[in-house]
Amino acid sequence: MTALRPADANDVERLVAWHADPEVSRYWDGETFTLAEMAERLAREDVEPWIVVEKDEPVGFLQVHREGLDMFLIPAARGHGLGPDAARAMAEHLVRERGRARVTVDPYAWNEGAVRAWERAGFVEVSRHEADDEHRASWILMEFRG
Ligand SMILES: CC(C)(COP(=O)(O)OP(=O)(O)OC[C@H]1O[C@@H](n2cnc3c(N)ncnc32)[C@H](O)[C@@H]1OP(=O)(O)O)[C@@H](O)C(=O)NCCC(=O)NCCS
Repeated sequence: MTALRPADANDVERLVAWHADPEVSRYWDGETFTLAEMAERLAREDVEPWIVVEKDEPVGFLQVHREGLDMFLIPAARGHGLGPDAARAMAEHLVRERGRARVTVDPYAWNEGAVRAWERAGFVEVSRHEADDEHRASWILMEFRG
């Protein structure tokens, strides 16, 4: 259903525009980015940025950090199983090809649609946590079990 390709400098404008949509930023702690900030983010060494592609069209963003994944799709692409498809493919790649011992996601507890999507991708709830330095509200730790 989906393909993944690394995000690069040619994606900076697209990603800035996507984050400027409140329907995207509200799932990303309200953050928006300038072109320069986005270029810097894409160049981070500890976070791998990927573009989710459906039928040759970019429809979302997935990033891989030390422990796990973050993802969003543009609003028009949601609700068709594309997110779970891309997340499962990346999680399997990380475990099988790169030997990662575990792959996690950390959705907010209020984001029930995302929790269901992560379950469809093969993640299961491990524990629940209160807000902390990296989370504005209570959140759920989920781990990929395939
Ligand atoms: C979470 C996300 C990546 C899942 O990908 P997806 O392809 O939409 O996943 P699914 O098709 O399995 O749908 C998952 C849920 O999205 C919700 N959904 C369905 N259509 C939707 C739409 N048009 N807009 C928003 N949410 C929608 C539903 O609650 C659905 O769950 P349900 O069918 O059990 O009710 C995607 O919905 C998204 O980008 N959401 C906003 C960003 C986000 O929450 N990211 C995750 C942060 S942890």
